[in-house]
Amino acid sequence: MINRRKAAILVSGRGSNMQALLKAASTPDYPVAFKMVVSDRADAAALAKAAALGIPTRHLPAERGTKGRRAFESALDDQLRAAGIELVCLAGFMQILSAWFVSRWPNRILNVHPSLLPRHPGLDTHARAIASGDHESGCSVHVVTETLDGGPVLGQQKVPVLPGDSPEELAARVLDAEHRLYPAVVAQFAETRLTTS
Ligand code: GAR
Repeated sequence: MINRRKAAILVSGRGSNMQALLKAASTPDYPVAFKMVVSDRADAAALAKAAALGIPTRHLPAERGTKGRRAFESALDDQLRAAGIELVCLAGFMQILSAWFVSRWPNRILNVHPSLLPRHPGLDTHARAIASGDHESGCSVHVVTETLDGGPVLGQQKVPVLPGDSPEELAARVLDAEHRLYPAVVAQFAETRLTTS
């Protein structure tokens, strides 16, 4: 019987990457158990999808401004620690985590980003890849640090940018790659890098 590391998934929207992680974790030898899904948005479709799979969900509202963010992060930190969480996986989570929060979880937060970092950090990655004339794009899984989309990259998967691609067409191709890459990198990270408990 393997010792599965306890992880949480943070979401803000649709949750297809969350579903890919939960599907991977439903196999007996996956080294991570997802114990909780947290959203900053009450209307995130991901919450209902996680609940339908029997995963405990929480909605923690994130008010604007420094005070609101600190309240959100403080509540999040409490909930994660109370549940004994060792690893936090961002999956379409659209809040920027503060240096304070990141310092509480050093090398414990992973993110999937829809570009080949360091190209196109931030938002609108697909439109920017097309506008830049990139011939390839893809996705990256990285450790979250206080620099937005700037932490060490753990894995990438490339996809072609095809002539005439719309941002939506490219996004769909990249998303497919995300669904394969993220569960694989999370498993590898848990097995090789999550050394302390
Ligand atoms: C994914 O493409 C993910 O990489 C991106 O949002 C999408 C979420 O889809 N994340 C970011 O842009 C984070 N800055 P999903 O909710 O279906 O997983």
